[in-house]
Amino acid sequence: MSQASHAIRETAPHDEAAVKVLIDAAFSGSGEDELVAGLRKDGDVVLELIAEATDGSIAGHILFSRLDVRAGTRSLKAVALAPLAVRPDFQRRGIGQALTRTGIDRCRKAHQDLAVVLGHPDYYARFDFSALLAKLLEAPYAGPSFMALELRPGALDGRKWKVIYPRAFSRP
Ligand SMILES: CC(C)(COP(=O)(O)OP(=O)(O)OC[C@H]1O[C@@H](n2cnc3c(N)ncnc32)[C@H](O)[C@@H]1OP(=O)(O)O)[C@@H](O)C(=O)NCCC(=O)NCCS
Repeated sequence: MSQASHAIRETAPHDEAAVKVLIDAAFSGSGEDELVAGLRKDGDVVLELIAEATDGSIAGHILFSRLDVRAGTRSLKAVALAPLAVRPDFQRRGIGQALTRTGIDRCRKAHQDLAVVLGHPDYYARFDFSALLAKLLEAPYAGPSFMALELRPGALDGRKWKVIYPRAFSRP
């Protein structure tokens, strides 16, 4: 599939209805838009980006939310990547990768220490997310789909950290 032409920018309030339609289409209405609405309502969004197609429609969306990561008295600046969605008719053209790379880059520039994701290992390994590294994290998630990326090299310092997700993740 050819690469799409698209511009990446921060999500604005007037995008929210279109983002909801996009997320419903990408996830077949499995409720990910409720996660996004909950994160916004609780003020837990750190970064939210969209990819705009040349016709001005929204082709993709990514959100990073605030994550509480601590070990004793030490804490990290950390984000959870979720959700990532590309409109079905724009998938496999590099939009998901462009959104993820841009988001990671911006989080790194904002001095975030760590990013975590729960997703397909083959997809997120290309951005250097690691399930092995995530084993240092005591979190509600575990296994090969739960991956971590140090945005500041050595941030985890080889020690165990407790991770608390924003409450929107645990709403029924
Ligand atoms: C997963 C998703 C975000 C990928 O975005 P995309 O723009 O289609 O993907 P890209 O064009 O950037 O990347 C294409 C690559 O991803 C791989 N890929 C696409 N969807 C994938 C999936 N669900 N699982 C694993 N790999 C996937 C392709 O095989 C392709 O690999 P290649 O480059 O080695 O050929 C998009 O397909 C989507 O929105 N899916 C539905 C919602 C979803 O599952 N979101 C992810 C939550 S973790």
